[in-house]
Amino acid sequence: MVFSQKKISYDLVIFGAKGDLSKRKLIPSLYQLEILNQLSENTRIIGVGRAEWKKKDYRKIVKSSIKEFLNKKIIKKIWKKFKSRLYFCNIDVNHISHFSKLKKILFKKKKNIIHYFAMPQNTFGKICKGLGKYKFNSSQDRVILEKPVGNSLKTSKKINNIVGNYFQEKQIFRIDHYLGKETILNLIALKFYNSIFFNNWNKNTVDHVQITVAEEVGIEGRWGYFDKIGQTRDMVQNHLLQILSIVAMSPPHNLKADTIKKEKLKILRSLRMINKKNVNLYTVRGQYTQGFYQGKKIPGYIDEIGAIKNSNTETFIAIQANIDNKEWNGVPFYLRTGKRLPIKHSEIVIYFKPVNYLFSEKINNIPLNKIVIRLQPNEGIDIFIINKIPGLDSNYKLREVKLKFDYKKSFKKFRLCDSYERLLLECFLGIQSLFVSRNEIEASWKWIDSILNAWENNKSKLELYKAGTWGPKASSNLLKKNNKSWNKIIC
Ligand code: BG6
Repeated sequence: MVFSQKKISYDLVIFGAKGDLSKRKLIPSLYQLEILNQLSENTRIIGVGRAEWKKKDYRKIVKSSIKEFLNKKIIKKIWKKFKSRLYFCNIDVNHISHFSKLKKILFKKKKNIIHYFAMPQNTFGKICKGLGKYKFNSSQDRVILEKPVGNSLKTSKKINNIVGNYFQEKQIFRIDHYLGKETILNLIALKFYNSIFFNNWNKNTVDHVQITVAEEVGIEGRWGYFDKIGQTRDMVQNHLLQILSIVAMSPPHNLKADTIKKEKLKILRSLRMINKKNVNLYTVRGQYTQGFYQGKKIPGYIDEIGAIKNSNTETFIAIQANIDNKEWNGVPFYLRTGKRLPIKHSEIVIYFKPVNYLFSEKINNIPLNKIVIRLQPNEGIDIFIINKIPGLDSNYKLREVKLKFDYKKSFKKFRLCDSYERLLLECFLGIQSLFVSRNEIEASWKWIDSILNAWENNKSKLELYKAGTWGPKASSNLLKKNNKSWNKIIC
């Protein structure tokens, strides 16, 4: 439990201080940690960017980011303390000599440093070089890498090698913000502390698994960037594969970072590769066209501002993933994620095999037992059981019944923290369990590359779907051919 741990002071240097991530997520989360008294006395935050800002300009920008993105009134006393931690250093990372400016701020108080690379990945090498030249990479220092690390196995290796030249693996914290979400953290508790699940979480009892990460937003002014990567690289390579690996991992023998990562890695390495022959059987790629969202007309992907009309980039993907190991062999894991779907909603659904020796003649009408783990929003868990309908009827009449757990109701006094609050804090504490190892990243890319290459070699069809719907029809067919269907999400 992080809150009881000893707080150590750090200098947190944020490269990309002017960027969206910093304003929307990092600063509000750090301020929230201040409110919770989780920042140690001497911790400082040093924004780095090309802007010609003085300390006081940066402090002003930070204050307005907190107001805008935390949606909270500034508490005078807290702000006073937080403000005193803020510094700014004007550096253009393209000029190695600029890094010397950090000396004045960092060496004044001689503390360990955490560098946060909240910048495009093509700058990581330059930043590392600058930090190396002025010795801001001592063995006590750490570095946080924002996703994506690469856009293929080859490029991710290149980035990992560059960063690895300056920092050791134990100093590198690769962020996947899904790993900081309360509901993802709870998966370990759910699977490994509840014997009713512990003994039933394998191919003998599980029929199949569905993981959905749906977004109602479109491309939000970043068309040019998104078009080069697509939904598979943006969401599946990281978030969905991380969720899959936690859902499928075997019980670790302890909760240490290395042990957990090794178990997750085994899953990622057991994923059946997708190739030219099976790509159409196992994947569906889609792109949204013009549609409606809450009664409002919304443009199609290729009609967005700055779009190229003949773009072949996917905004939706559905995959049947197969884990070829002894625990999961034969159990399909269906993944789907897309932009411009009806609502923002992420869930994991575990379907259990039917027990059909008593009620076999009725089996077709009885739905499978399932656990629906709602990751966001309305975080919670629903368990669906089969119950006898009360009454005097001598025949058994059965119906599905829902048992419901809601975080909001069961943990009224507790707040669900933003994932960045937790991840920043874990990095301050030096705990790596919620960060992604180099091996995991590379295993994920290897699998994703197999899909992307197969699409390219096969000239796989891009299925169109109307914005505001649950994706192309082919996505339902992916399950239908195995007599299954996507869990119905109520909007
Ligand atoms: C990011 C993706 O990693 O995750 C975005 O780059 C996506 O495209 C976002 O919108 C979704 O995160 P969350 O936490 O809002 O589900």
